[in-house]
Amino acid sequence: MSERKVVLISGASRGIGLSVARAFADEGWSLSLGQRQPELPEFAPEADHHAAFYDALDPSSASAWVEAAMARFGRIDAVIANAGIASHKSVIDVDDAEMDALLAVNVKAPRQLVKAAWEPLGQSGRGRVIVLASLSGKRVKSAGSGAYAVSKFAAVGLAHAIRHAGFDKGIRATAVCPGFVATDMARSLTDRDDRLMTDPDDVARVVVMLTSLPNTASVAEFAINCQLEESF
Ligand SMILES: NC(=O)c1ccc[n+]([C@@H]2O[C@H](COP(=O)([O-])OP(=O)(O)OC[C@H]3O[C@@H](n4cnc5c(N)ncnc54)[C@H](OP(=O)(O)O)[C@@H]3O)[C@@H](O)[C@H]2O)c1
Repeated sequence: MSERKVVLISGASRGIGLSVARAFADEGWSLSLGQRQPELPEFAPEADHHAAFYDALDPSSASAWVEAAMARFGRIDAVIANAGIASHKSVIDVDDAEMDALLAVNVKAPRQLVKAAWEPLGQSGRGRVIVLASLSGKRVKSAGSGAYAVSKFAAVGLAHAIRHAGFDKGIRATAVCPGFVATDMARSLTDRDDRLMTDPDDVARVVVMLTSLPNTASVAEFAINCQLEESF
C-alpha cells in the first residue's frame, strides 16, 4: 500500500480540477486523475501519480477507474467529484436530452464515483468526499441558470446524503459552492473579466483545507463568491 495519501479527482484536465490536482500534489498526495483524455500534467510525474480513463456519461467507467487506482496504490483517502457541465438554458427552454446530460454528469456520476470508492474510503476511518457543487445549488439567480441550478441543487443534496451515509465510517463530505470561477465554464456563461472572478487556485486551497480537517470538524457546505450577494 502507498505511504502517501491518495486522492481521486474527476475532470482534472483543466479549470478547477487542474488547480485542485496541483494543490494536492504540492501537499504530497498521490493523484489519481479521472479524465476523458487520461494524461498527467507536468507537475505530476508517473512515478507518484496515475491517470485513468473516466467519462461521467459512462456509468461503468467509475468502477474501472477505482479498480485501477486500487491496483496502483492500494488505498483511496479522498474523492473530489469535480467534473461538471453547464447550461445557459431556463427550465422551459432546455430540452430533455440536455437536462438528462446535466443530471447525468453533475449528479448521477458523482454518486456512482463515490459509491465505487466507498469501501476504500471507509478503510482509514477518515475518508473525505468533496462534491464541486455551485452557488447555483443554493439559489436560482436567473432564468438562464435554471436548468444548471436544478442539477446543482441535487449535487448539494447528494453531498449531504453522502455525509449522512458515511459519518459512522469516518467519511466526511462537503458541498463546495463557488460563484463565478475564472475557467472555461464561467467564460462561456459571462463576459466578466477573469480578474473579477474567483481564482481556481483559491477554490483548490479551500478543497485541500476541507480535506485536511479532522473528523470532529465536519463542514457540510462551503460557499465562496467573487461578488456580494444577499446571503453569499
Ligand atoms: N467555473 C465556475 O464558475 C464554477 C462555479 C461553480 C461551480 N463550478 C463547478 O466546478 C466544477 C469544475 O468546473 P470548471 O469551471 O473547472 O469547468 P471547466 O473548465 O469547463 O472544466 C470541466 C471539467 O470537467 C470535465 N468533464 C466535463 N464533462 C465530462 C465527462 N462527461 N466526463 C469526464 N469529465 C468531464 C472536463 O473534461 P474535458 O477537458 O474532457 O472536457 C473538464 O476537466 C464543475 O462541476 C462546475 O459545475 C464551476
